[in-house]
Amino acid sequence: MLKIVVLVSGGGTNLQAILDAIDDGKITDTRVEAVISNNSGAYALERAAKRGIPTETVTRKAISDRDAYDRALLAAVQRYSPDLVVLAGCLVVIPEIMVDAFPNRIINIHPALIPAFCGTGYYGLKVHEGVLARGVKVTGATVHFVDKGTDTGPIILQKAVAVQEGDTPEILQRRVMEQAEWEIMPRAIDLIARGKVTVADGLAHIRE
Ligand code: GRF
Repeated sequence: MLKIVVLVSGGGTNLQAILDAIDDGKITDTRVEAVISNNSGAYALERAAKRGIPTETVTRKAISDRDAYDRALLAAVQRYSPDLVVLAGCLVVIPEIMVDAFPNRIINIHPALIPAFCGTGYYGLKVHEGVLARGVKVTGATVHFVDKGTDTGPIILQKAVAVQEGDTPEILQRRVMEQAEWEIMPRAIDLIARGKVTVADGLAHIRE
């Protein structure tokens, strides 16, 4: 049984995709132990509560000191002893102490084809605004292991999505979520649950 803790900040559609994939058997032998957010108003927390999954919030409003916040966030995650930490629409900068505690055991979904449109300042709609401003014809999403950089860890899965004439950032975001994010995040978790993903020389390898 792969025990996971999911970190969220917003609507939780990626969390929902994970929960649905567990129900549908598309993710094998996996249990969501808890959902933790930096945002007490995140609808993702309601999605978890509806399923009876424990939820916690660790907000900067409550803990303004950065180091204290980082330690509190790590402590909240460790309370559930997860095998894997999943960042699903999580806008928190993951502290180095968490990466040290979970080496190659934290994964993130980024709404672009890394190394394009990623790194500092590229999150949420800003990613899709950059894609449209540059006029690229193909974008997509990436699931990667989290290291101490921003969107720089080993890439596990990617899926391409066509940019269409007339796309707005909102329309494009929705297409990337529907056609890429909600597919590759559950698939990545299933591969990890089945022991099919290894990391060597800074690269993730999948052996189905
Ligand atoms: C999505 O675009 C996701 O790629 C990004 O945050 C947005 C909202 O995700 N990381 P969710 O609906 O909260 O899962």
